[in-house]
Amino acid sequence: MHRYKSTWNFSLIDAMMGKMTDTKHTIVFQPSGLRGKIDDGVTILEASQKLGAGIESVCGGKGICGKCKVRIEEGFFAKYGINSSIASVKNKGQANRKLIKPRQLKQGYRLSCQTRIYGDVVIFIPEQSRKGQQVIRKEATPRDIKIKPVVKKYAVGLKPASLHDALGDFERLQNELSNTHKLKNLTIDYTVLQKLQNTVRDGNWQVAVSVWHGKEIIDVAAGQATNSYGLAVDVGTTTVAGYLCDLATGEVLATGAMMNPQVAYGEDVMSRIGYASKGKKELKQMNRVIIQCLNKIAGEVANKSGIKRSEIIDIVLVGNTCMHHLFLNVDPQYLGKTPFAPAIHHSVDIKAHDLGLSIASGAYVHVLPIEAGFVGADNVGVLITEEPYNQDEMVLIIDIGTNGELILGNRKKLLSTSCATGPAFEGAEIHHGMRAAPGAIEKLEIDPKTKEVRFKVIGNEKWNTEDKDIKALGICGSGIFDVAAQMFLAGIIDKGGRFNTSLKSKRFRNGDNSGEFVIAWAKETGIGQDIVVIQRDIRAIQLAKGAMYSGARIMMNRLGIKKIDRVVLAGAFGSYIDKESAAVIGLFPDCSPENVTAVGNAAGDGARIALLNAGKRKEADVMARQVEYVELTVEPDFNQSFTDALIFPHARDKFPSLQHLLPQKD
Ligand code: FES
Repeated sequence: MHRYKSTWNFSLIDAMMGKMTDTKHTIVFQPSGLRGKIDDGVTILEASQKLGAGIESVCGGKGICGKCKVRIEEGFFAKYGINSSIASVKNKGQANRKLIKPRQLKQGYRLSCQTRIYGDVVIFIPEQSRKGQQVIRKEATPRDIKIKPVVKKYAVGLKPASLHDALGDFERLQNELSNTHKLKNLTIDYTVLQKLQNTVRDGNWQVAVSVWHGKEIIDVAAGQATNSYGLAVDVGTTTVAGYLCDLATGEVLATGAMMNPQVAYGEDVMSRIGYASKGKKELKQMNRVIIQCLNKIAGEVANKSGIKRSEIIDIVLVGNTCMHHLFLNVDPQYLGKTPFAPAIHHSVDIKAHDLGLSIASGAYVHVLPIEAGFVGADNVGVLITEEPYNQDEMVLIIDIGTNGELILGNRKKLLSTSCATGPAFEGAEIHHGMRAAPGAIEKLEIDPKTKEVRFKVIGNEKWNTEDKDIKALGICGSGIFDVAAQMFLAGIIDKGGRFNTSLKSKRFRNGDNSGEFVIAWAKETGIGQDIVVIQRDIRAIQLAKGAMYSGARIMMNRLGIKKIDRVVLAGAFGSYIDKESAAVIGLFPDCSPENVTAVGNAAGDGARIALLNAGKRKEADVMARQVEYVELTVEPDFNQSFTDALIFPHARDKFPSLQHLLPQKD
């Protein structure tokens, strides 16, 4: 009894010691070869984030999008000294069984967010699950901007201090600026004060002084005045773009863009709110990565222009409400709950160094105001760029993204709304959808008679019929508009979005209860399988476009108008979609094609305009409060309006401008 007991105790201690000393596992990601030690029980997705292996996580790890699929490799990998086996991982819940076909489960496929690691393992990330290097399409559009910056630089010559005149350096500067430039009661940034005496003497009493809003000295540099630089920033849910401008001429000196690193924590706004709301640590994590990203962009554009990052003296930033809160390290949880109130509506000016931004130490960051819970500073950027409030024409401005934002009106009245389009237009929730990365199908045509398809992919100007080496990897947002419009016009789907099951085409397969249409044959793809459109994809497109259309319709009803004079497609994405395809699927009510224009990244342009013109910052604050926000979900006719708008192009509305295209019987 005694012997048995002690043996049992030793085994237990051995086991415990084993656990204590060996709770980390070696994990290798293929094909990149990235590897590292990971704690017992973390998910594969978490491991990939830690090691920088880049796995798609459209739903933010909730186990609903199915985009994070990876394959667990079997066998001994001598190179790494690892015996890799499916036994080293465990399912977290039921999602693996729901979203992965039994055949693939047997082959070792698992959802990386729903699978925990309990041993050494080699993991292969298939092409479609790899975070592609997104093509960032956020060029600055030429705009006529009146230059009137908030920060002005003055060349100041000071009388050196002496025993007879030992006035403080700051007061000396204050007096000189008051006498020469009529700047009264100036204050000085604390960090600038700390270096003031050395700077003044380094410049032999000749300094260049930057003054913010005619109120505060935010930078002092030794010597003669040189150019001043500012950065306009557009923080998008997916991409972040920065435009370095000369504050005196307005010239865009350099543009820098990056994927928003918060993508690793969820692709859409709601996933990010969910993650950041978990606790202070998670919020700080999201804030830290966006600040790091902005510092990187600032460094990159400064480098390109041959200046130092510390010479950037002003920043104006726009972003949707969630991006705005995360940038300011403000908990966004209430944005996700009715009545969706933001922490602040008004614009804010915050010291860059308080936010952790490494630019001129005394510089401010100006964040444009917010219209409503889901209509953020980015929309205000669009507003001050397009100025519908100065026009007689009835203008509909559509900013297409994960969250569709709409503005309708003219100088008499302006309404705005936002609708949850879901990520379908960005390629997510689409069976073979992907982001706008090289290899993504971005343009597509279907012959209405033969139902044959030709397509173009990002990174190649030619059609696949002209260049046989083109290998498609999936379908991106702009391609998705074409897919729906072309399938509808070719009679592959009907106006209700259903597959025409009597279709005779080798591209149409009526299996799996719902049918699928082949866009690219396996030999034309780089993913080793056919790229298809399934019924669920069409439904996702209908839901997204229906949300946009009904938003516009409800606002038209509110204004009591029957017709829109002009449609403006804002957002970088709007420049790449085919206007005709967007009209055919019914993204917006009828409008003459020549009056539908794409204006590029108007939100980013709005940030640039506010950077270069102080008056526009005031205008933004005033207009953001004048636009009347329409909450669609509480509108009594929303359900009917939405149901009507699910139809291609619409159940009741007429489209005289599209008569030459649409099937006549309908
Ligand atoms: S299912 Fe894993 S990230 Fe969406």
